[in-house]
Amino acid sequence: MFSHSAARALTAQSRARLFSSTASRQTKVAVLGAGGGIGQPLSLLLKSDPLVTSLSLYDIRGAPGVAADVSHVDTASEVNGYAADKLDEALDGVKVVVIPAGVPRKPGMTRDDLFNTNASIVRDLATAIGRVAPTAHILVISNPVNSTVPIVAATLEKAGVFDPKRLFGVTTLDVVRAARFTAGIAGAHPNETPITVVGGHSGATIVPLLSQSAYGKGIKGEVYEKLVYRIQFGGDEVVKAKDGAGSATLSMAYAGAKFTNSLLRGLSGEKGVVTPTFVYSPLYASQGIDFFSSNVELGVNGVEKIHPLGPLSAEEEKLMEACLPELKKNIEKGKAFVASS
Ligand code: NAI
Repeated sequence: MFSHSAARALTAQSRARLFSSTASRQTKVAVLGAGGGIGQPLSLLLKSDPLVTSLSLYDIRGAPGVAADVSHVDTASEVNGYAADKLDEALDGVKVVVIPAGVPRKPGMTRDDLFNTNASIVRDLATAIGRVAPTAHILVISNPVNSTVPIVAATLEKAGVFDPKRLFGVTTLDVVRAARFTAGIAGAHPNETPITVVGGHSGATIVPLLSQSAYGKGIKGEVYEKLVYRIQFGGDEVVKAKDGAGSATLSMAYAGAKFTNSLLRGLSGEKGVVTPTFVYSPLYASQGIDFFSSNVELGVNGVEKIHPLGPLSAEEEKLMEACLPELKKNIEKGKAFVASS
């Protein structure tokens, strides 16, 4: 049995592992889709983030219940839940909005198969954000991220409030998987095997830059091929194992909370917070691809600096060749949806 003080130390330690709280400013964060498979554990993790002052939980179903439950956790932040007709109230005064609303995949589905349902959900939420919280930072988890991020951008642009520094597609789960899987092969701790993952967030558009990692660059041949495939299609393992009950929720909540904490640290003035995320980007704009994930420095205004990819191996050049046309198609599909709305 642990003593109370040992238990408290453990709790503090495990929080510190996920969250860094070096900065002082705190913030109101909304979760739209808070009643879902991702939304519930994400709300719990955000309740544990010392940089969150206030949590606003919204869903078309179940958010007040999730809020009542999470609000009993003994951290300083306050929590409020909002029912379906209370979206504007949920968004009032928020600094950061995280969106895991929408349907997840079932076995055999690609992320693009979710487009028809999720496109309008995300567009409608973006319309409300543009009206009520036009300066909020928006973190999009809802799939297909390659299309939903352009949908949010185009919707805000229509409303005259799009700021590319404040819109992020959350690709952190790809980064988390890449570190975990590489660590398993290298026999190292995942902290030692961070991998930059660029491109987009679905299958072939996910491009891990293993050659830039001290551990990753030594992985060759069939082991390399299998590792890349697993990073690109790791989500399918979860969809298959859940057997019709959805896709990744717990690891995604972890990844979503991790990215939110990185952004909050940047917004609070911490320097050197760099992580991959899918943003409005100049890197491939000349090829008609104006959203792209690469390492981004997060600062007081959101996107501070978009880093170039750096040197690529021959294998990675090939992965990029497969990524770009698919990513372009996904982005155009999102834009066309808003144009025709
Ligand atoms: P879920 O079905 O368990 O939860 C979705 C929630 O969204 C439900 O509670 C539902 O009531 C709510 N919702 C639906 N329409 C809404 C609206 N208009 N406003 C507010 N809430 C609304 O699904 P799950 O597993 O939580 O996945 C959510 C999304 O996240 C899916 O699109 C999934 O594909 C995506 N996802 C993204 C990942 C990423 O790496 N970016 C990884 C895993 C999933």
